[in-house]
Amino acid sequence: MGRVVVGVAGGIAAYKACELVRRFRADGHEVRVVPTRAALKFVGLTTWEALSGNPVSTEVWDDTDQVAHVRIGQQADLVVIAPATADLMARAASGRADDLLTNVLLTAHCPVVMAPAMHTEMWEHPATRANVTTLRERGVLVINPASGRLTGADSGPGRLPEAVEIHDIASTILADPAIAGAATEQDLRGLQVVVSAGGTREHLDPVRYLGNASSGLMGIALARAAALRGAEVTLVAGHIEHPVPSGIDVRTVVSTGDLAETMTELTPSADVVIMAAAPADYTPKEFSSGKIKKSGDDSLSVDFVQTTDVLATLVQQRADRGDQGQVLVGFAAETAGSKEVLIDLGTAKLRRKGCDLLVCNDVSSGQVFGAPDNAITVLDADGIVAEHAGAKSVVAHVILDAARSLRQRR
Ligand code: CTP
Repeated sequence: MGRVVVGVAGGIAAYKACELVRRFRADGHEVRVVPTRAALKFVGLTTWEALSGNPVSTEVWDDTDQVAHVRIGQQADLVVIAPATADLMARAASGRADDLLTNVLLTAHCPVVMAPAMHTEMWEHPATRANVTTLRERGVLVINPASGRLTGADSGPGRLPEAVEIHDIASTILADPAIAGAATEQDLRGLQVVVSAGGTREHLDPVRYLGNASSGLMGIALARAAALRGAEVTLVAGHIEHPVPSGIDVRTVVSTGDLAETMTELTPSADVVIMAAAPADYTPKEFSSGKIKKSGDDSLSVDFVQTTDVLATLVQQRADRGDQGQVLVGFAAETAGSKEVLIDLGTAKLRRKGCDLLVCNDVSSGQVFGAPDNAITVLDADGIVAEHAGAKSVVAHVILDAARSLRQRR
């Protein structure tokens, strides 16, 4: 487990950092909270000490025997500042050391994540823009704020993303610090990425449907990861059981037919298309507009017909457009039982579908659907291009790395 410093600047969103601290502690991390003086006007010192289980100070004059103003930054595995105000970012950009938090920033060797929160005018002011650019050039991962209702009646970009989102980004970076580099570089900027996620539902009547166990977590992780790295992302969501991160366009679909229609509409302009959805392969031959009633006998027979193979259709449409650049990624959830069988099944599926990359996972254990972790093998026509086992949020970056590298070679 890591050492996480949570810096809190003086903004109304400081209360959201309480939840962030709680989440880091629940993960087992050692947490130090370093608020600014202004932050204590919003949430008191006692709260931070109780939540973090560590002493809290805003000044360099406390714990001087421990040289706290140097040690806290030096020993950290990650510094997360939430909220990062315009003033904090200005002080950090100009290298000030006028309180404990700015001292921590000057002594930290680890990745630094800032989650800004302020009024839209302050976020868009040239002074703040320049400070954000400076911080990003120095390797600080400054997350874009969410849009929505701000303090008072106004709304716009400037909201602190929810603690769950900041925690997800921070945890991903703790698991693989290289991801902070890709995110800071914005290495997917300029790319349009379309990701499908979740299971489809094929209705028999207005209340009953044929569905599947997909929770959408893998697709959501891919969408979040691509947006973090600067891509313009659209998530095409079937039935999903998790909230969609801010800053991502969402199109909702119900059936495989809807999914085919929406993907066909969106993909011609996309650079990378990832089919992480679990579309139903069969749909009832007939839809009953009234609720199907129990009949006298104790059985019910329903005829099913095959749905459109969306991925294969997208491959065909790309060929028809003569598009040489687009990267199409499919998934294969197989009950393989062994890696050799998984690769054999995956290789055959890759050929059958005609996509560029196929992300294979073994679902024999039944642990994949809805689980936070996944073990994947990414195949292209020549064999294995990447393998990873771990959190889906990290796995998502491995898949994007493979797609990016293929896109660059085209
Ligand atoms: N897929 C699709 N349209 C379908 C079914 C699947 O586009 N009607 C996509 C999935 O999103 C995934 C890939 O095809 O990216 C492989 O899905 P999978 O269910 O493993 O393959 P199937 O084609 O359904 O083959 P089978 O179930 O027979 O293994």
